[in-house]
Amino acid sequence: MMAAESSFIHRFVSPADSDSKIALLLLHGTGGDEGDLVPLGHQLAPGAALLSPRGRVLEHGMPRFFRRLAEGVFDLQDLKRQTDDLAKFASDASRKYGIDQRKLIAVGYSNGANIAGSLLLSHPQLLAGAVLFRPMVPFRPQVSPDLTDVPVLLAAARHDQIVNPKETTELAGILTSAGAYVTTHWHPGGHELGVDDVAAAKEWLFEHYMDDGNG
Ligand code: MLT
Repeated sequence: MMAAESSFIHRFVSPADSDSKIALLLLHGTGGDEGDLVPLGHQLAPGAALLSPRGRVLEHGMPRFFRRLAEGVFDLQDLKRQTDDLAKFASDASRKYGIDQRKLIAVGYSNGANIAGSLLLSHPQLLAGAVLFRPMVPFRPQVSPDLTDVPVLLAAARHDQIVNPKETTELAGILTSAGAYVTTHWHPGGHELGVDDVAAAKEWLFEHYMDDGNG
């Protein structure tokens, strides 16, 4: 279903499995759109509800979730505004589509991972967890949020042309000191996703949300 209400153009895929234990909030990278991560969502969580907004900022015609001043230099005011709006969108859309927000897990790639990180740090009650593919530190919070026991997967790359591995370590530290349960996966290549990233995310989702220990 295509829709434009709640101020984000988005795509919603109804759950094929009404017993699915998770729903995914899919957040694309720079130049992507609401269709981009839907196949990945189906791969990661077959049958789950998928909510996929399009970033509202355009950089030379390419959608993003917030403005940047240069590569890796973020407009923090815009980041805050867009993060707050996205949090409201996620809550409103969850209500509208009947998604149990306690099951909502963000899956973001690159720019989408950065706004997902920002959601975790400034709206710590919103998400049941997050998979961040190639994230940076979105901002450095002055007061640590309470993310006690919120599972977060950081999927970083050893030879990322855009993200310095030191940022991954710093982000892991920020999230861990907020109480989050952080796992880091290291892809041997660069910024693009590899099959190992997808496999790691799938396994991590299974371990944290679907494995009831009976099987
Ligand atoms: C960003 O601007 O969020 C990061 O540099 C990743 C990117 O979109 O290139």
